[in-house]
Amino acid sequence: MNDADPRRADQVDRGSQAVTLQRHGAKRAAERNAPRLAGLITEIALAAKLVARETRHAALTGRLGTVGSANASGDTQKELDLLANRVFLDCLAASGLAAAVVSEELEQAEILHQSAGADYLVCLDPIDGSSNLKLGTSVGSIFGVYLRTRTGDCREVEQELLHESSLVAGGYVLYGASTAFVYSLGDRVDGFVLDQEIGEFLLTHPEIRCPRSGDCYSINTGNSHLWEPGVLAFVRHLDETSPEAGRPYALRYSGALMADLHRILLEGGIYCYPADQDHPEGKLRLLYEAAPLGFLVEAAGGRASSGRGRILDVPRRSLHQTTPLALGSAEDVATYEQFLAEAAG
Ligand code: F6P
Repeated sequence: MNDADPRRADQVDRGSQAVTLQRHGAKRAAERNAPRLAGLITEIALAAKLVARETRHAALTGRLGTVGSANASGDTQKELDLLANRVFLDCLAASGLAAAVVSEELEQAEILHQSAGADYLVCLDPIDGSSNLKLGTSVGSIFGVYLRTRTGDCREVEQELLHESSLVAGGYVLYGASTAFVYSLGDRVDGFVLDQEIGEFLLTHPEIRCPRSGDCYSINTGNSHLWEPGVLAFVRHLDETSPEAGRPYALRYSGALMADLHRILLEGGIYCYPADQDHPEGKLRLLYEAAPLGFLVEAAGGRASSGRGRILDVPRRSLHQTTPLALGSAEDVATYEQFLAEAAG
């Protein structure tokens, strides 16, 4: 390869334009006149790096077991669930920017700061898809950042979160073949990959747009005997052969929402966890799973629905409330809503 080789020039160019998550967050937050939000994103990213390190080493350090307790949703807690929860809480506490945290692993909200400057409430699922941990396959973290309307005293955190605050950032981390960090402040979605050698998340997927439709779906078909007729009809429709309509769709279900959603965000398709006879209100948690991811998917041009309306319009009633959820390509999610509406008459 000589100096004039265009491939080499391209590589040099990309290298010199490396954008770290920290720099990116600072710029985006400054554009929104919310510089403290950048600090919060940086702390969440630090927690993600620490959790990535722990999950990578978990099999070697013997940290794949359960601890014999259950979380607020009734899921058995793993050692790594609790460790990741602590890591996120410690980083958020150190930031001084979050007044309180709601976590899947905590029954009650944890108050962190009562001081002025703690403008945000953070809702998170420290390890999503944790049944994958023992196998060493992909898991994720999800976060939603809610802007307070009050300052200082945060004793009424439930009232604030359910009735006053607004979602201003949503994102996730995927601990997979690489560690990916994807976030949105509402107007666009950007994706980063952790460069372990330099310890930085670097921009790899600027301005992600979710394709209008896809060719794969993610749903636990093992629950099909529990579904309502509209969900059954929708999945049958996706399974039908119609080459001109791009069907059948491929089924891809990993048991970790982040792994499934990451594919769908980049390549199109639909993820669903509908209401069923065992989960009449769905399984996924509104405040720290469905809403932040819905916020992000909409910012990428996709659609996020309970099946009967926009997920971001679902009223917040309790910290650990669940909701049916469909996320992904706008056309695929709209078709799902149509099937549900038609079956309901
Ligand atoms: O709790 C959320 C979650 O673990 C998602 O990550 C995943 O998509 C889903 O639940 C798996 O649930 P099930 O095993 O019931 O299909």
